[in-house]
Amino acid sequence: MPPTTSQAAAADDLASKIMIALDVSSADEARRVAGELAGYNVIYKIGLQLFSSAGHAIVEEFVGNGHRVFLDLKFHDIPNTVAQASIAASRLGVWMFNVHALGGGAMLRAARYAVDNEQAVNGTKRPLIVAVTVLTSSAEDTLNEIGITSDPKAQVLRLAILAKSSGMDGVVASAHEVPLIKSEIGADFLTITPGIRPKAATKDDQERVMTVKDALANGSDFLVIGRPVLEAEDRRSAFESMLNAGAAE
Ligand code: C5P
Repeated sequence: MPPTTSQAAAADDLASKIMIALDVSSADEARRVAGELAGYNVIYKIGLQLFSSAGHAIVEEFVGNGHRVFLDLKFHDIPNTVAQASIAASRLGVWMFNVHALGGGAMLRAARYAVDNEQAVNGTKRPLIVAVTVLTSSAEDTLNEIGITSDPKAQVLRLAILAKSSGMDGVVASAHEVPLIKSEIGADFLTITPGIRPKAATKDDQERVMTVKDALANGSDFLVIGRPVLEAEDRRSAFESMLNAGAAE
């Protein structure tokens, strides 16, 4: 049965909260993905793989084509270096970029101060800045291995509180932690959730996964989807079936 008008509107609305991870190794392949999803107002996430392969030109191209771009380079360095990289990201015109909360408050504040200053001086639109808390591929063992003895939820909350008090617009976490973040920090603190999988799909290297529908029910603002779409034979229909499952009553 073809979708009704209201189902189609719900799917379109949901598409604007989906971040497609362009984890591909060439500009051509990135363009192909965007072509396959043409017509949907998704956000394109450009991360380490594509940036290392195609550089900032691909970021500028996607921005120039009117897409919202999330530059996912997870800055983590001394405050001055992160501040300078944040200015460079602002100048690329990205809609959002991220830093690692583990870099600490001084580093996070330096990123925010730098983009605010860039906006005041050069009139560039301030990108949203979000902080990575605990990677969705990490479980308790992974944290223990690096000397963090709190469980992932407690660690996510600790870093989210630090991110909020350091001027971040939100955090990257798993959808499992969203209710806790929203209740402790506030509904308008953004949550970006990778590790989104269709029901009964492979987790790949992710640990803390959730379906689109459950992530939305938990209050996630933006949902990152990579391999479930990228590795599908028909990307558009894989995307649409996740969208429809998420938008269904
Ligand atoms: O393929 P998959 O849907 O697992 O892709 C998830 C994407 O989200 C990848 O691009 C990965 O780099 C990114 N990411 C993540 N966990 C974080 C932050 C970003 O998986 N905490």
